[in-house]
Amino acid sequence: MALRIRCVVAPSRFNEFTLMKPAAVNPTFDVEEIRAQFPILKELVHGKPLVYFDNAATSQKPRRVIKAESAYYATINANVHRGVHTLSTKATEAQEAARETIRKHINARHAHEVIFTSGTTASLNLAAFSLGQLLLNKGDEVLISGMEHHANIVPWQLACERHGAVLKVIPVTDAGELEPQRRNDATGSATDLFTERTKVLAVSHVSNTLGTINPVKKLIAEARKRGIITVVDGAQAIPHLDVDVQDLGCDLYAFSGHKAYGPTGTGVLYGREDLLERMPPWQGGGEMIDTVTLEKSTWAKLPFKFEAGTPHIAGIIGLGEAIRWMEDYDKAAMAAHEHMLLEHATKELLAMDGLRIIGTAKEKVGVISFVIDGVHHYDLGTLLDQQGIAVRTGHHCTQPLMERFGVSGTTRASFACFNTVDEVDLMVTATRKAVKMLR
Ligand code: ALA
Repeated sequence: MALRIRCVVAPSRFNEFTLMKPAAVNPTFDVEEIRAQFPILKELVHGKPLVYFDNAATSQKPRRVIKAESAYYATINANVHRGVHTLSTKATEAQEAARETIRKHINARHAHEVIFTSGTTASLNLAAFSLGQLLLNKGDEVLISGMEHHANIVPWQLACERHGAVLKVIPVTDAGELEPQRRNDATGSATDLFTERTKVLAVSHVSNTLGTINPVKKLIAEARKRGIITVVDGAQAIPHLDVDVQDLGCDLYAFSGHKAYGPTGTGVLYGREDLLERMPPWQGGGEMIDTVTLEKSTWAKLPFKFEAGTPHIAGIIGLGEAIRWMEDYDKAAMAAHEHMLLEHATKELLAMDGLRIIGTAKEKVGVISFVIDGVHHYDLGTLLDQQGIAVRTGHHCTQPLMERFGVSGTTRASFACFNTVDEVDLMVTATRKAVKMLR
């Protein structure tokens, strides 16, 4: 039985506690109990205990998830929906149980609103291709933001090219927040970026590079008033926030399994039933059809219309288990713990000469990107790795955002619930040492 952790400090009140010794902030959050469930945390890297701060790229997996995935191969392995034999039925049941777990987790109305994909990138490509076919005509507009991951830029560029539509961009402030109502310098009035030609708003819930939590609920409400379809890239939100798609009011919501303690190669596109019914399929093949003749095909019902081919069954089962694993814990306690790490890392890093944090929004998850005068992020990342510390360096698949901040790349530490204050301190000490060597 997994332990239920109670949170004694509400995350929103955390600031009041930043001067306390960080470990004392939430004494009931048993990070060691959590760490014991992640086999990889016992690995050594260059002879040093692994400090894994690259969770925004992919999080580590608890034993339960690894076991669920391998148990499928060891005891069930069969295709779904295709056979009457026992193993196929078991595989189907296990996959559909995962779909139901995810439905409940994001509070979708129906399980058939949960479409399995290979990840956020596939989910967003599906959305852009299919919505492009359904909605976009010459001169129409798609509105994204300046902090999007390439996966929420390029598919829309392709769709706009195909249909003669125009891609518009919500600017990003110096703090790394969205600025949907840009001031018009000439008139002094606010310029609404939504126009009567806007057909789609596609924005990230949480920035993978800055950690900013965007006010997506507000943006969605504004878009819906104007009849605009809304798509949310939730890849970085699912592991950290409670996501309720009905409360957000979005039409489509994309996320990956592997950033939320689940297997790689798994993802979800949630869609409102009425919209999914109208959207054309994006990939053709087995399982997504009702009938096929050599002249014409008709489509299967939801969700299968969007699930051509054999899915990543083992991964989907693992993803269901990852979500159940997260649900066994108090999400607020996890969030408070990660926020405490963020506050501590921010304070310690900012004490270093010449260090600038890129992304200082008021609302952030545990992602911290920084640059240091005279130090190339790649060199720093390499030296940290020598100390067993895994961070990501580079543009983080957000080149336009790097341009916005006038940097070629950053060093990024991204925290998960299994990280500790001691690990943050190790990173800060190793960074100080590296800077002395590199300057
Ligand atoms: N999107 C992933 C990241 O931010 C790969 O690192």
